[in-house]
Amino acid sequence: MNQLIINTQVTKGHIRKEIQGQFSEHLGRCIYGGLYVGEDSEIPNENGMRKDVVQALRDISLPVLRWPGGCFADEYHWKDGVGPKETRKKMVNTHWGGVTEDNSFGTHEFFELCRQIGCEAYVNGNVGSGTVQEMNEWVEYMTFDGISPMAALRKENGSEAPFPVAFFAMGNEPWGCGGNMTAEYYANEYRKYQTYVRQYGKNKIFKIAAGANANDYHWTETLMKNAGKYMDGLSLHYYTVPHTWKEKGHALGFTVKDYYETLKKTLFMEELITRHSAIMDQYDPEKKVGLMVDEWGTWYDVEEGTNPGFLYQQNSMRDAMVAALNLNIFNKHCDRVRMANIAQLVNVLQAMILTEGPRMLLTPTYFVFKLFADHQENELLDSHLLTGEIEEGDVKLPALQESASIAPDGTVHVTLVNPGLKDNQVVTILTNGLKPTHVVGRMLTGAMEDHNTFDDPDLVADQPFVSFTMTTSGLIATLPPCSVVHLAIR
Ligand code: AHR
Repeated sequence: MNQLIINTQVTKGHIRKEIQGQFSEHLGRCIYGGLYVGEDSEIPNENGMRKDVVQALRDISLPVLRWPGGCFADEYHWKDGVGPKETRKKMVNTHWGGVTEDNSFGTHEFFELCRQIGCEAYVNGNVGSGTVQEMNEWVEYMTFDGISPMAALRKENGSEAPFPVAFFAMGNEPWGCGGNMTAEYYANEYRKYQTYVRQYGKNKIFKIAAGANANDYHWTETLMKNAGKYMDGLSLHYYTVPHTWKEKGHALGFTVKDYYETLKKTLFMEELITRHSAIMDQYDPEKKVGLMVDEWGTWYDVEEGTNPGFLYQQNSMRDAMVAALNLNIFNKHCDRVRMANIAQLVNVLQAMILTEGPRMLLTPTYFVFKLFADHQENELLDSHLLTGEIEEGDVKLPALQESASIAPDGTVHVTLVNPGLKDNQVVTILTNGLKPTHVVGRMLTGAMEDHNTFDDPDLVADQPFVSFTMTTSGLIATLPPCSVVHLAIR
């Protein structure tokens, strides 16, 4: 028996909507085919953007989208992607499959996509192979609303009004694909580049420094010490890889042991955030600098027969569990975690959506984001879970995991995860300070390998959750194995 105590009158921080952010890179079929098909495509589109995909993303209130990479960002030269499409320069996408990038999706198209989705823009600048001038001019091009060479060029290219750049990062993974730099060297580069990222008019850019690879605490320490006062956010990348980077394991056809090990590795996110935050606290006790987990999710071996550089993988209930565990962790750390961006939006790694020509399917991960959407812009509530452990071989996991928040209208939102594959979990929920009169539940559940295919796209989907009874002090709910439940309690 589990007990969840929620103190509905004690708040612990603001859950920014950007915690449910996404990432889209010029990689495989994420942009081309997944999001953008071009104006002349037979696939229904608005200004080249797939209508089916945009609608699905609107339905989960996608808050912010990172673009153009990833590793691609440090090879991207923005001027190649503006102006008439016929004359745009073609380049080789050396990181991702060596394919030709025709630059038909560039700055204007990205902001058009964000406009259609209704989300904020997070642009990642090029430090690795770009210049300070190039970055400075890009920001001027996007955001300056006066008389200047770059504003004039933007207008000539069809946009009279500047573009709203909410977030801007200086480089990506400078410790690796972004230039193989040391932390000390990058901290200086960051200081220099960010100087020329100007704030024009009312547009206030939130400046992000490229952060650590998983548990590289030295990176965070060095960046905070040497450049902390010049940044609004510092990123962190951590992927859940079931086995090793060389042989990662498959998205489907995995064992029960693989399942539990994947979830155990996912929960390492808790330790990572706690330890990086502790370092940040030393230099920034007021928590002005946000921790931006701007790449996370599962990374498996690519599906057989697909381009190894395209990182295409299926997505099962195991991925749904990974997503839910991470999103609950981010909620709990909302005092420091300002944004998180799952990698990636469509057709790449732990995607929300898979496409095949005109066909589209929603993955189990998509439905987890749907179940969590009501946490956006709420206040995190003080909550305590008394739960047991489940054991599988040498892996131990908590039998339940949760987070709770309160919306401006007073509704309490709880997201609970039962990661076990065998047992129901019964939980008594005490909502201190609130005597529930109305509860609505939704759930995602299935066998660990359940997934949607183009021939059977609706096998996994969220459904009403009714296995609860209300009590005078809260409710008692029964979660089936391998499930995520959202409760809206009033
Ligand atoms: O998301 C795929 C890649 O993973 C990104 O391009 C890079 O930043 C990371 O290594």
